[in-house]
Amino acid sequence: MCTAAGASLSRHVADTWGASLEQPLIRRAALPDWPGVAALLVAADLPLDGAEEHLGDFVLAADSEGNLLGCAALERYGHAGLLRSVTVAPPARGQGLGGSLVQHLLDTADAQGLDPVALLTTTAADYFPRFGFRVVPRSEVPDAVQASIEFAQACPTSAVALLRSGGSAARLGQNAAHALPVRRFDTRLATLADAGAIARIYNQGIEDRVATFETLLRSEEDTTSFMKGT
Ligand SMILES: CC(C)(COP(=O)(O)OP(=O)(O)OC[C@H]1O[C@@H](n2cnc3c(N)ncnc32)[C@H](O)[C@@H]1OP(=O)(O)O)[C@@H](O)C(=O)NCCC(=O)NCCS
Repeated sequence: MCTAAGASLSRHVADTWGASLEQPLIRRAALPDWPGVAALLVAADLPLDGAEEHLGDFVLAADSEGNLLGCAALERYGHAGLLRSVTVAPPARGQGLGGSLVQHLLDTADAQGLDPVALLTTTAADYFPRFGFRVVPRSEVPDAVQASIEFAQACPTSAVALLRSGGSAARLGQNAAHALPVRRFDTRLATLADAGAIARIYNQGIEDRVATFETLLRSEEDTTSFMKGT
């Protein structure tokens, strides 16, 4: 799901984009769909490597006239899944189609007991946490997924890895957090005596890779100096 160069097939997609978006249908891909799928991927600058071999793992969104509006794939590697090739034609974006395709495949993953589900992206790391994915170091991705064409050949090493573990609970957990009664904490201004604790909390965020792309751990001295403005 990282980006790839080239756009020679984009005309094929452009020719079909004028169609109506009413009630898009999500269906499995079949052999004759490959040119349309390839065109969607190329137009989105996503890699083709390994995609045709896995055409049977694709789901497609099509309008009432059969024109392709989007696609996504779930490849299987032992007990783990690889979500890739998620894209929606530009005129159809922002209407929940990408979300429907992703959710459809995650429901499939859950039904088939595929856990965890991994993905790589250079462009949409902020899109996938809503489905329960979190950014992880590549080393956390199961070896079998790392050996896939997507991981081993198609994506640059700069692509961000995301992982969804625990099936639908990963997302339910997120939603449930909103439903829980809010526990109230007292707040106060920090003092220099808090510098060690602040550094530990900050470093935990880096180690968990949950809320920051920072990689440099902070010492108590760093935090003290930051608080003093020196
Ligand atoms: C990412 C993509 C599949 C989303 O499809 P979509 O149908 O527009 O998505 P949805 O309608 O389900 O969701 C829209 C929401 O996602 C957000 N979003 C869309 N693309 C995003 C991206 N690249 N990064 C972060 N958020 C993104 C929108 O801002 C919108 O947010 P909101 O709900 O807070 O308003 C589509 O933008 C696309 O094809 N991008 C190019 C290919 C790509 O980057 N694929 C990702 C895998 S590498």
